[in-house]
Amino acid sequence: MIDAISFGNNKLRYLDQRFLPLQENYVETADYLQAIEAIKTLAVRGAPLIGVAAGYTVVLAVQCFDGEKDSFKAYFDKIIAEVEASRPTAVNLFFATAKMNEVVAKRFAESSMAELKEHILNEAICIHNEEIANCENMARHGVALIQKDLGHILEKRKLNVLTHCNTGTLATGGLGTALGVIKQAYKDGLIEKVYTSESRPLLQGLRLTAWELEKEGIPFFSHADSSSGILMQRGMVDFGIVGADRIAANGDTANKIGTFNHAVLCHEHGLPFYIAAPISTVDITIPDGTYIPIEERNADELRAIHGTKVATDTTPVVNFAFDMTPAKYINGIITDKAALTGDYVKALKEVVPAAAAS
Ligand code: MRU
Repeated sequence: MIDAISFGNNKLRYLDQRFLPLQENYVETADYLQAIEAIKTLAVRGAPLIGVAAGYTVVLAVQCFDGEKDSFKAYFDKIIAEVEASRPTAVNLFFATAKMNEVVAKRFAESSMAELKEHILNEAICIHNEEIANCENMARHGVALIQKDLGHILEKRKLNVLTHCNTGTLATGGLGTALGVIKQAYKDGLIEKVYTSESRPLLQGLRLTAWELEKEGIPFFSHADSSSGILMQRGMVDFGIVGADRIAANGDTANKIGTFNHAVLCHEHGLPFYIAAPISTVDITIPDGTYIPIEERNADELRAIHGTKVATDTTPVVNFAFDMTPAKYINGIITDKAALTGDYVKALKEVVPAAAAS
């Protein structure tokens, strides 16, 4: 069983994903600054898990507050700002800090400091549990959509699927988003094998998804990001499914760099391309994907492969961590509430709670 993240004895415990699959290092910390660093360095990563980690990071910071209640609000606002500055694209992080803000706004007046700390911890646990439950629901809706769209192939044989980055237990704490759908579909006898692209520069597909698939006993091949075209051209892939870091109100989706290429190639080959993401990944406040902040990371990440330098320090680099796939390339958005197809503006409005739009 993979324990991506947990909280106990006033400490956050996480599996440091930077060293997988070669080393399984679990880290325990009571230091919120170390937790922020874990998010920044991708020791903890994947949109839903970033949200869960953000919640527990706030808990750690609040736990060590020993001032008067009067000074708590200013301290709390500073912590929230620090957590929010860690990674910009995955909206789950901001979903979690909004939940933390809400609980403080609602409980501050009536609670002692000890009670307030308890309410904040309970909210973080609630975010964690919800993300686990969301995965189960996405898996169910995703399998139903695949059966509906690809039933004509399933009458004859099982399916081969392409995925990108890591969207499994390591990215969510639960079954996974896209990888959760794949795991369930495999269990239900729909999947023959998985093609998991390496996801340069940090290799989340090659290192993490491959690790999870191997543990699950699901047949797979890892491949270079640039080979998705030939896989499709040769009929080796029946559909694509990936996760998301932020989905705009019209369905435009930001996900790991390289997703857009896979989506366009699926479109070119007439193959369905799906997004699986919980409602906590939908940012209904932005009309389209051009408003999604795209993280640009350190140039050295590209100049090296898993810590080994492959380019000079002076090689100029563009290192976008995510790209944006326009909704027209997306054949379905599988959320924890329902699998959405067609008019995403209308469909997303129906499933996203009104509060998220304010
Ligand atoms: O930079 P990362 O590793 O945090 O990026 C992760 C992704 O892009 C995932 O595909 C996305 O968060 C969906 S996770 C369920």
